[in-house]
Amino acid sequence: MKPTISKNVSKFKCTKSPVREIMDLANPQFFKQAGLNPTEVISFSGGWVNHESPDELRKAYGDIIQNRQRFHFSGGYPPTIGLTECRNAIVDFEKHIFGQEMNLKPENIAIGCNSSQMTFNLMHIMLSPGDTLLLTDPSYCNYPSQVSAIDGVKIIRFPVLDVAKWRYIADEKTAEFAKFIRSEKPKMILLCAPDNPTSQIPPTEFIKAALEAAVEIGSFLVIDFAYKTLIWNGDVPEYFSWGPTENYVSIHSNSKWCRGLGRRLGWVEAPPEIIEALEAVQGSSILCPDTLHQMALTDYITNGIESNSIIPYIHKTARLYETAAKRTVEAIDKHLKLPCLVPQGGLYTVVHVDAESSEITRRIVENTGVIVVPGWGFGETLKNAVRLSYGPLVHSLDKIDEGMKRIGKFLATCNR
Ligand SMILES: Cc1ncc(COP(=O)(O)O)c(C=O)c1O
Repeated sequence: MKPTISKNVSKFKCTKSPVREIMDLANPQFFKQAGLNPTEVISFSGGWVNHESPDELRKAYGDIIQNRQRFHFSGGYPPTIGLTECRNAIVDFEKHIFGQEMNLKPENIAIGCNSSQMTFNLMHIMLSPGDTLLLTDPSYCNYPSQVSAIDGVKIIRFPVLDVAKWRYIADEKTAEFAKFIRSEKPKMILLCAPDNPTSQIPPTEFIKAALEAAVEIGSFLVIDFAYKTLIWNGDVPEYFSWGPTENYVSIHSNSKWCRGLGRRLGWVEAPPEIIEALEAVQGSSILCPDTLHQMALTDYITNGIESNSIIPYIHKTARLYETAAKRTVEAIDKHLKLPCLVPQGGLYTVVHVDAESSEITRRIVENTGVIVVPGWGFGETLKNAVRLSYGPLVHSLDKIDEGMKRIGKFLATCNR
């Protein structure tokens, strides 16, 4: 008799997923069906970076691999929440970039395989059945899918986008947000800075008001900093330098800043109680993170701080994405003449196309060979919008113009 998979996963598989929808559109099989030439397809769908990793990081991997003893060591299990040297190095890295006064100690660091896994684990640590998770609207489409694995958790949303004027309005809604937290009493408030999909940075006053309310009602404010170093305009918000407290926890990743997407490693900065909980949960889920990546990152950080090569690398990288962001906004203005948000960091912008997002995305790709991401998965505010990622095109700026030109031509003639 053929066994069945669990009811939960059967249900999950059948739920409409934005990630799966994107994968389907980016599938060569689909290109073939739609009569598209794969070499002419331009994709704005990938949430990934395409700049080079630091040379010094490559060298760090090389040195470990060349050294018989160190290579042997890298094949062993590290402690469940990471190597002590790597936890120390992460503290040095954060202080080097965001200020020596940052209140962060190695005891506040737990390292995991990547930040997606650690977000998933934190949800299990912080939420019980009957609890509420508060997300902004829009917010990263993976959070609702992740939390759906915990039975009986309710998601509530707080809109930070004025859909009529297509403006990010967190700064105008600070008091309302704090009031909403006090009345709805979410157990976990999960924000992202810079944000996916808007590439806006929630203002410090917004975060401070949320934290004050979280302290009052006994909830966790968690910030996902996957894009923390990809910011421009020089102003680093004050909360980028906060250490963890009983109510404030942050999630970090090496995927984006040093192009470690395929050499992933994540970490959480949290009070000791959460670190202990992560140790217990990781012990029975991933067992431990990867040793080689921790060793290379430790060497890179230690040597990079000494030679002062990390900050210039981070600034240079941010400038690349700032240029790509500008080019994207200019191309949208020129060819689409539709409202979009001007990125303050990160890899994305969202465009108000004023048509149901799934349907228009499919028609765009079929008619132009350009892939964008339907907005519905990020929340109600983006149901008539699409997300564009300039991350993969950071070294192919002409493709940004070409992609927008094709979409503009199509939208000018199609019936929306
Ligand atoms: C907001 C956000 N958090 C986390 C991740 C994934 O990070 P990691 O590679 O560390 O799992 C992404 C990836 O696109 C993201 O957009």
